[in-house]
Order: sequence, then structure tokens, then C-alpha cells
Amino acid sequence: MRASIKGTGSYLPPRVLTNADLEKMVDTSDEWIVARTGIKERHIVDEDTASSDLAVEASKKAIEDAGISPEDIDCIIVATISPDTLFPSNGCRLQYRLGCRQIMSFDISVGCTGFIYGLELAKTLIQSGKYKNILVVATEVLSKITDWEDRSTCVLFGDGAGAAIVAPAENDDYGILSTFTAADGSLGHLLELPAGGSRIPASHQSVSNRLHYLKMKGNEVFKSAVLSMEKSANKVLERAGMTTDEVDWLITHQANLRIIELLGRRLKMPKEKVIVTVDKFGNTSASTIPIALDNAAREGKFKQGNIVLLAAFGAGFTWGGILIRWEKE
Ligand code: ACO
Repeated sequence: MRASIKGTGSYLPPRVLTNADLEKMVDTSDEWIVARTGIKERHIVDEDTASSDLAVEASKKAIEDAGISPEDIDCIIVATISPDTLFPSNGCRLQYRLGCRQIMSFDISVGCTGFIYGLELAKTLIQSGKYKNILVVATEVLSKITDWEDRSTCVLFGDGAGAAIVAPAENDDYGILSTFTAADGSLGHLLELPAGGSRIPASHQSVSNRLHYLKMKGNEVFKSAVLSMEKSANKVLERAGMTTDEVDWLITHQANLRIIELLGRRLKMPKEKVIVTVDKFGNTSASTIPIALDNAAREGKFKQGNIVLLAAFGAGFTWGGILIRWEKE
């Protein structure tokens, strides 16, 4: 039995923060940000909005797109590094707020690879025969863990959510063809949120040392991101017995246009087959891939039978890929 994406949805908070806005906040320029990252603007939540609020909106759209109702869902997987609270999980919040039955609902914390890990889990649960409709949603409010005084990170991130309903394929020629997921904890310190857990709980000192904000060694992350996503893409292609010539669309994690373009070149993918949303939304961590997937689907880019290749990389380090033969018409 194959698992397939039956519906997608995404939600971006309405407020847009442009590079010109950032020029007033830190020592940066639109020119630097566009040249180094390709980002022109990003969406940012207001003070009262948390990541589950974005997830609810994206999920409703995916549920509607799949033509099902919340009672039909039998598992919720939320990928996030910016949950409303450490517990209860956003998964449980969604179960209640969407009006689902008392189903298995949980969060996974794997940085930007979250949606790929979520799809891998959903696929495996579907193939077990015990689950029929799984909601996989990635949601991030990175603006609340971003250090707005650190110009090397604050220009990169944005807020948003993307969701998909995963269910058995109607026809086993379609759906998720192959998957690959991996992790290497030895590199975790290059991208981390140091405080707020049991290692460095919140204290006056942790707050004054700005340890509740995301820290990243951008250069080192850059190199690993390209190599790991390339490896992931090649692995899923090899597992499906395919080559990049057969791929219709490449969606990579949207962290930086230079990473996306470099990866596209290394995989020999023509530019017009590489989907880019980082210019409009910035890096929304786990949400970038489902947001790009939903945007492309709603723009009518995917035709039934198209081969869609997803590749992601994130904190952990984690990385992975998914190869899909698109089923939805
Ligand atoms: N505006 C102006 N100048 C800046 C800014 C800024 N916003 N930020 C840094 N600079 C300066 C630096 O201080 C440095 O100046 P110096 O040479 O005088 O010291 C110079 O620009 C170059 O800095 P680098 O860090 O070498 O710039 P680089 O070209 O590597 O770009 C970037 C930095 C954009 C962060 C890049 O390394 C990157 O995108 N890395 C990957 C990030 C990523 O993929 N993350 C994925 C996972 S995210 C997650 O899981 C949540």
C-alpha cells in the first residue's frame, strides 16, 4: 500500500516585514540581504499569536482540500521547534481546536527537516494499515525565538505553517515512492536554542545573556545543508530507481536562495523546475516545504503523475528526502 498526499494547506500571518523595515532595526541593508540570501520579505505574527494558531488555519485548508472532515483524521503529527509551550504539545492543542476525535497527537522537534520526518512517520503508519487519514502539519513562530539585535540571524527567519493530509493512495502507482531520513547529533551546537530546557532553565542570567534566542554558525550550517540535501535527494532517487531527469519539481528547504540554486545545479535540475518561496517568506524552518508545496499545488503547477522531489536539512543536524508521484488532480 502506498501513502499519498490528498490535500495541502498553508497559512502566513498577515504582517509583512520587509528588508527596508530591518534596515531600521539592525545594521544591515536590502542589498546585503538579497545578495546573500535572496530574501526580500517575511511574514511575522503579532504579539498574541502562537504557532498553534497558524497550524489551525493551515490544517483547516488541508482538511478542506482533501475533502474530509476533522472527525476523519486518526493521527496528528506536528513538526515545530517553536511550540506554544514545551507541553502540552501543539499536537494536542490541534486535536482539540480542530474538533478531532481523541486520536494520537504529538509534536516532533527536528528543525527544518520536520515535515520530511512527519511524512516518513505518516507513510509508515498508513502502511501499517491501522491509520487512514493523517494530518502532518509544520508550524513555526521563529520571530519569538529570534534575537532581533543579531543581524546575522534576524534577517533570515519568518513565521508560517503548512499542512498535508496523508492517506492511502487510490492507485499504488501514485504517492510516496521513497524516503530517506538521517541525523547527526555531533553537529547540534552549530544551530541551537541554548536555554529554556532542563540544561539551562530560565533564569535572570539566561535571559540577560540572550540564551533564549536561536544561535547559528551560518557558514558551517551552509556547507552541511548543501551536502546533506544533495545526499538525501540522490538517496531517494536511487531507492526509487530514478534519476533527476525524471523529476518534474524540486522543493528544497527554503533557507537561502544560494543554497537552493547551488543544490539545483549540483543535481542538474533546470531552474524552472526548482520551486522558490524564500524570497517572499524567508526561512520558516519546518514549514518552508509544506508552504512551498501548497503554493505550487494551488498555482496548478503539479499535474497528476508529476514526480516531486523534497529535500530538507535542519537543526540536530537532521536531513532527509521524499520522492512523490503526485496523485491529486
Ligand atoms: N547585514 C549585513 N552584514 C551582515 C549581516 C547582515 N544581516 N549578517 C552578517 N553580516 C556580515 C558579517 O558580519 C560578515 O562581516 P565580516 O566579513 O566583516 O566579518 C559578513 O557579512 C559575511 O558573513 P558570513 O556569515 O560569512 O555571510 P554568509 O555569506 O555565510 O551568509 C548566511 C550568512 C546567510 C547566514 C549563510 O551562511 C546561510 O544562509 N547559512 C545557512 C543557514 C541555514 O541553512 N539554516 C538552515 C537551518 S535553519 C533551522 O533549522 C532553524
